[in-house]
Order: sequence, then structure tokens, then C-alpha cells
Amino acid sequence: MSAGRLQGKVAVVTGSNSGIGRAIAIAYGGEGAIVICASRRPEAQEGDLPTHEQIKKNGGKAEFHHLQFTETESIDNLIKKVVKEHGRIDVWVSNAGTIGTMKPVHELTDEEFDSTVDTNLKGCFRCLRSAAAQMQTQPLNDFSRRGSIISITSVFGPRGWPASAAYSASKLGTVGMTTAAATDLSQHKINVNCISPGTVMTKATDSMPPEIMQALGRKALLGFGVPEDISGPAILLASEEGRWIQGQQIFIDGGFTIT
Ligand SMILES: NC(=O)c1ccc[n+]([C@@H]2O[C@H](COP(=O)([O-])OP(=O)(O)OC[C@H]3O[C@@H](n4cnc5c(N)ncnc54)[C@H](OP(=O)(O)O)[C@@H]3O)[C@@H](O)[C@H]2O)c1
Repeated sequence: MSAGRLQGKVAVVTGSNSGIGRAIAIAYGGEGAIVICASRRPEAQEGDLPTHEQIKKNGGKAEFHHLQFTETESIDNLIKKVVKEHGRIDVWVSNAGTIGTMKPVHELTDEEFDSTVDTNLKGCFRCLRSAAAQMQTQPLNDFSRRGSIISITSVFGPRGWPASAAYSASKLGTVGMTTAAATDLSQHKINVNCISPGTVMTKATDSMPPEIMQALGRKALLGFGVPEDISGPAILLASEEGRWIQGQQIFIDGGFTIT
């Protein structure tokens, strides 16, 4: 494998066993990163090799670590293990997430709202806090950064959509947190950004009602995306080419947000 844009960088990708997280992890492996695949389960979808095994089969370096996105202790344990083994964490991708309960806002219970926000927004917060605390202690890398933290948000943050109030709140909250955290962490030379995908065909969209998919299809000027469409921007934000991108929400959505 030739030297890549993330050669030797240690990159944690959460929710790496399927969809967008799997595509980012495999792309990072192809760019020479040591990829820490962090999910609740190592197994991939039926017929696929586990993500860390696929990366190794492609000639890259990867390992699996268990992670529960809703537990600070689980995140901190993962960081401890990775730093013990590899010495630092260069890139952290908070991709794990859930669509949660899809209901009109006036029917949502406190529990349903809290559960979605706890996974999507608070999960990203827990990771941002712990990853930033670790990165601050590290020496600068070869392009004068201590690390890069990327959260996967959604076009449904700023753009309302029926039956998705809790999801939209969790994703737009993550955008706000990203911009604020970027102002805190710039002095430590840590990049903090988020990527907001449009509709990408994954396990999450497989479970969407057909009428919602049809309505989403009318907004997707370039059609629906595939998980690999998100990999390029995720490489950019993790690599030297992205070192001056700070506090941004990058829409990768096939035109969804301009219609
Ligand atoms: N697909 C889209 O159209 C779209 C659009 C915009 C944004 N996004 C966002 O992109 C991210 C990835 O979504 P996807 O479409 O690729 O969905 P996906 O295929 O369902 O993947 C979601 C991943 O998150 C993991 N996860 C969920 N809850 C977790 C928890 N509590 N702890 C640890 N891992 C957890 C899942 O692991 P398990 O298999 O163990 O549950 C899975 O690996 C999500 O944040 C989603 O909101 C997706």
C-alpha cells in the first residue's frame, strides 16, 4: 500500500460496523491510518466482513474496540486503551447515531426525546470532551495540529422534516456545540468540524417508510448518496489539507439543502 494522506495517524471511528461509519473507517484504512473501529458490536451487516477485518484484508491496519456511545466510562476506557497501545489519537469521528422515534412532535414522549438526544447530541458531547482532553496533552503532529474531531450531523438539523423533531434537535445541537468547541479548542490546535449528510442509503434509511423516502427523493437533486460519498470529506477534515478548516458544518447532500 502506498503512503496515504493519513499515513500512521491513529483514527477512532465510532459506529463503524455499518453504513457511513464503515465507509469512513475503510477509507481511512486505505489512506494509511491505524483505524480503531469502535462499535457496540464487531459484526457487520449480513455478508460483509467486520470492518476491521475488511481494512486488514485491504492491506491496512485496524482493530476493533467495544464502545457504548451513551456511556462516558466506555468512551474513556477506549481512549485509555488506544493511547496505551498507540501513544496518541489524531482523529476522532463521532458517527454513531440513531434516527430515534419518528413521530409528530405533539406525540413525542419525554423518554423518546431524551433517548434520541442522549445518543446523538450527548454522545457527541461525551466524545468531544474526552477526545479533546486527550488531544490537548499530545505534541503537535507533522502539520502542527494536536488532532481533529469530526461529528456526523445531518441536513435534518437546520432543515425541518416531519416526525423528526428529536432527531433534528439532536443534530442541530451538535452543530452549535461544534462551533462553540472550535472556539475553545483552536488555542490547543485541535480542529473541530461536522459533516451534515443528506439521504445516504444505509441500514438507517432501509427502515424509513416508503412515502418518506419518496418525499426525500424529490429533494435530492443528485439522487440518494452511498456511504462512500461521505468518506472524501471525512478524509479532508482529518488530513493536512483540512488543517485550516475550523468550526464548520459541511453539507454533503446531493443538493438537498439548496432546494
Ligand atoms: N443515512 C443517512 O441518510 C444519514 C443522513 C444524515 C446523517 N446520518 C448520520 O450518520 C450517522 C451514521 O448513520 P448510518 O446511516 O450509517 O446508520 P447505521 O448504518 O444505522 O449506523 C449507525 C451506527 O451507529 C451505531 N450506534 C448506534 N447507537 C450506538 C450506541 N449507543 N453506541 C455505539 N454505537 C451506536 C450503530 O451500531 P449498532 O449496529 O450496534 O446499533 C451503527 O454502527 C448517524 O449519526 C446518522 O444520524 C445518516
